[in-house]
Amino acid sequence: MSTESRPLRAVAVSGSLTAPSRTTALVEAITEAFGRVLPIESHLIALNELGPHLAGALTRKQLPPEAEAELQRIENADLLVVATPVYRASFTGLFKYLFDFVDQYALVDTPVLLAATGGSERHALIIEHQLRPLFGFFQSLALPVGVYALDSDFTDYAVSSEQLAERIDKAIERALPLVRSSLVEKETVERTLAGEDVSAD
Ligand SMILES: Cc1cc2nc3c(=O)[nH]c(=O)nc-3n(C[C@H](O)[C@H](O)[C@H](O)COP(=O)(O)O)c2cc1C
Repeated sequence: MSTESRPLRAVAVSGSLTAPSRTTALVEAITEAFGRVLPIESHLIALNELGPHLAGALTRKQLPPEAEAELQRIENADLLVVATPVYRASFTGLFKYLFDFVDQYALVDTPVLLAATGGSERHALIIEHQLRPLFGFFQSLALPVGVYALDSDFTDYAVSSEQLAERIDKAIERALPLVRSSLVEKETVERTLAGEDVSAD
């Protein structure tokens, strides 16, 4: 079976509280880079927009339909591109708040590209020490190369440094075989559950 059978549902999540945002620019650049090598349909969840719809909810049932719809998009994604600005040496509170509502088993084996932006290079390990364990908890396929970007990698809230563009390309190159095989596997399961005979593929 080919990965061209249906476009990949890619969901990008930006944990930034502001607009314009370097973090949002980063997830968009990464998603666009995926789109150059894979057929994807992408959807962006920007927490500066979604955040006010989450505020105050203590359980998922209390969330309004807009927020529930975004959670379902995350849970049904074939690929997640997640990024947060570093706030006080960690992800933003809203980023974690959003993922606290995500079903514990909905992201099992989902490929997740991890990314973050920060003012200081001293916080680059947020990807390894904070984002990777979170998606390890979800039993996701946290992709091998994450992307950390400094404020100085952007001009007017767009990626402008060549080094950052190269890091994005490297992350995509390393992610590609894993994302492709994950989609093939997922489609085989979906077709089997739909009663198709996939043994001849
Ligand atoms: C409340 C707050 C806390 C921050 N804490 C850190 C930090 O601990 N380490 C760091 O490297 N940058 C820190 N920054 C800088 C942001 O991570 C950085 O400017 C980021 O690119 C902002 O992303 P945005 O443009 O998407 O909002 C902080 C910024 C804010 C507003």
